[in-house]
Amino acid sequence: MNRQTIGIILNGVTGRMGYRQHLVRSILAIRDEGGLALADGSRIQLRPVLVGRNKDKLQRIAFLHGIDEYTTDLDEALADPGFDIYADFLLTNARVPALRKAMAAGKALYSEKPTAETHAEAAELAEEVENAGLHNGVVHDKLYLPGLLKLKRLVDSGFFGRVLSVRGEFGYWVFEGDWQSSQRPSWNYRAEDGGGIVVDMFPHWNYVFEHLFGSVRSVYAHTATHIPQRVDEQNRTYDTTADDAAYAIFEVGDGTVVQMNSSWCVRVNREELVEFQVDGTHASAVVGLFNGHVQPREITPRPVWNPDLADTHDYRSDWAPVPDNAEYGNGFRAQWEEYLRDYIAGTPHRFDFASAARGVLLAERALESDRTGRRIDLGGKTEAR
Ligand SMILES: NC(=O)c1ccc[n+]([C@@H]2O[C@H](COP(=O)([O-])OP(=O)(O)OC[C@H]3O[C@@H](n4cnc5c(N)ncnc54)[C@H](O)[C@@H]3O)[C@@H](O)[C@H]2O)c1
Repeated sequence: MNRQTIGIILNGVTGRMGYRQHLVRSILAIRDEGGLALADGSRIQLRPVLVGRNKDKLQRIAFLHGIDEYTTDLDEALADPGFDIYADFLLTNARVPALRKAMAAGKALYSEKPTAETHAEAAELAEEVENAGLHNGVVHDKLYLPGLLKLKRLVDSGFFGRVLSVRGEFGYWVFEGDWQSSQRPSWNYRAEDGGGIVVDMFPHWNYVFEHLFGSVRSVYAHTATHIPQRVDEQNRTYDTTADDAAYAIFEVGDGTVVQMNSSWCVRVNREELVEFQVDGTHASAVVGLFNGHVQPREITPRPVWNPDLADTHDYRSDWAPVPDNAEYGNGFRAQWEEYLRDYIAGTPHRFDFASAARGVLLAERALESDRTGRRIDLGGKTEAR
């Protein structure tokens, strides 16, 4: 590819993810550094156009960040051959028609997760984009975070021996909106608007488990709507209809058992908002989004159960920190850079719409497990290609 700029249509930049992570921390950060640095030392500049429903909001963002182009007409942006990539950060339930339009216009696609609300639709999209031969990628941001990069390094080095089990704890208290405003949008708590913690988080857990430990083979999930009413952005009380917590067990890879708690109704007593403890035959690790600690078998203490004596051993002090050994930037930007380099090189992006569809499948099967009270076999369908 021989060119100086890549045109990117950014749809949904007034939203939480679209504005902060994709526009400001990724696209504008790259633009403001003079463009995307390539291996040969050259740079390709980015040409963003903002798309949304509210012209005033777009104008404000464009003015604030020195962006020349914005429009409320997606078709107009898609018709412009100067734009190569369509990026979608809309609410999930508005995404599929927009992605299909972009596909029809022959654009490369980059999408927030999940790509669709149902596995049927997500799988259809994956097939359509593959058949059309369009470059495609889906946000798998957690894999680009320092903690999970360190964990991947440990797994790949064989540090754990055989990985027996993983315990994941994700969550924090999301205020109800009455006496303190909620720190998440209200649609997250309405099933009819695409909300729910399973739909939100299980697509992440699918690619995290797949990438680190192998494909998810089965899921058992118990969900709850712990808080029955919340107060929305307009100060109106509404009934919550979506799950705000999910307690799940997965069989992953060659028999690794993963327990994962996901909740917007827990108070944090951890070092980070998500933590995974991995226990293997040779070693264990506890990692969060940024940091990690390990304990190899050679320095594993020998606790003896004795309820009559207070245990004075400081178990936490037996763990050693995992060093950074690299510089880590913003995870969203790191994936954007990889996606753009793949686009320029004409090589498929490793986290594609098929991977996105597997994530939606896991969320769907988890909800089925909750409804039926059964463990659901995924029949190898979340197999990575
Ligand atoms: N990767 C992650 O860690 C992560 C985290 C949170 C959310 N997300 C995903 O990002 C997406 C956006 O979530 P958010 O929290 O930023 O939501 P948000 O409500 O803050 O933003 C949604 C955006 O979509 C636009 N929009 C809403 N309804 C629309 C419609 N009918 N037509 C066109 N545009 C519409 C809004 O104007 C806004 O720009 C969701 O798909 C969500 O699953 C990903």
